[in-house]
Amino acid sequence: MLRDINAYISSGKQQVDDTLKSVFENKAIPSNLQQSMTYSLFAGGKRLRPILLFASYEAFAKDKNKVLKTASALEMIHTYSLIHDDLPAMDDDDYRRGSLTNHRKFDEATAILAGDSLLTYSFELIATDSLLSPEEKVYLLQSLSKASGAEGMVAGQILDTEGENKELTLKDLEQIHELKTGELISFAITAGAYLANVDKERINHLKDYAYYLGLIFQVQDDILDVVGDPDKLGKPVGSDEANEKSTYPNLLGLEGAKKQRDIYEEKAKTALEKANASDSYLLDLLYFFGQRDH
Ligand code: IPE
Ligand code: IPE
Ligand code: MG
Ligand code: MG
Ligand code: MG
Repeated sequence: MLRDINAYISSGKQQVDDTLKSVFENKAIPSNLQQSMTYSLFAGGKRLRPILLFASYEAFAKDKNKVLKTASALEMIHTYSLIHDDLPAMDDDDYRRGSLTNHRKFDEATAILAGDSLLTYSFELIATDSLLSPEEKVYLLQSLSKASGAEGMVAGQILDTEGENKELTLKDLEQIHELKTGELISFAITAGAYLANVDKERINHLKDYAYYLGLIFQVQDDILDVVGDPDKLGKPVGSDEANEKSTYPNLLGLEGAKKQRDIYEEKAKTALEKANASDSYLLDLLYFFGQRDH
């Protein structure tokens, strides 16, 4: 299959944007709350998780209409997690994606509530999706709530917070990242494959791929927090050091972190081969994740 990853990413992004816009039509949301929700939703996120979900679905099936709402729901949860992550009680960041963070643009109460609304709305979006069967909805709702909740992303966020000012081992760090970043990435991959009717054995290999992809994503996030260009990133660098976070670069050094990224890439590639899904955008996305500069 001939593939153009950049074209794939930009068309996927457009479809996510269109779907997200359409779900806000005719909603009775108080105006300030809606403004705060859409401010962050349309602030220029890369839409990587929805695009991964598309790529996973399209590695095995055609016509991604079926997954548009699920992918958008996932992006809503991701956006909520960032709004809360930036709050003064958490990372206390003033800029995100080149613009003021939600609580700096609005206020803390509005930012907290916009996050709450995006989280809950994501489940409503799946529950009311007319293209999904009742069985598919239950599967998605169960796995998305698990991935984002107290055993998933939120678990990673608390461990990350508790890990500040502490020396963590590589294993500790991997566990935090697996949860705080990996769980949503894993949902993207498994949900896409599930909706494409992929068998359990292959889904298990795809889970391994997603695990390493999540780690690649986070090593790169840590590397960029040290050597990234704040203009390209749209967020200041040096935030991890200021918060005394354990990161790949401070645990392994910058070169060590890059080597670790290469090790993860090899493992992800092998898992993809085992899932028989190498001839797909999932392979290109693997390298895209490791080489991104923003
Ligand atoms: C940043 O995620 C936060 C992490 C989970 C490390 P992204 O880099 O995907 O953020 P956006 O949505 O593109 O801004
Ligand atoms: C954010 O991780 C992870 C989640 C919001 C789940 P970071 O705190 O490392 O992300 P950035 O660096 O602010 O984007
Ligand atoms: Mg954080
Ligand atoms: Mg942060
Ligand atoms: Mg970071």
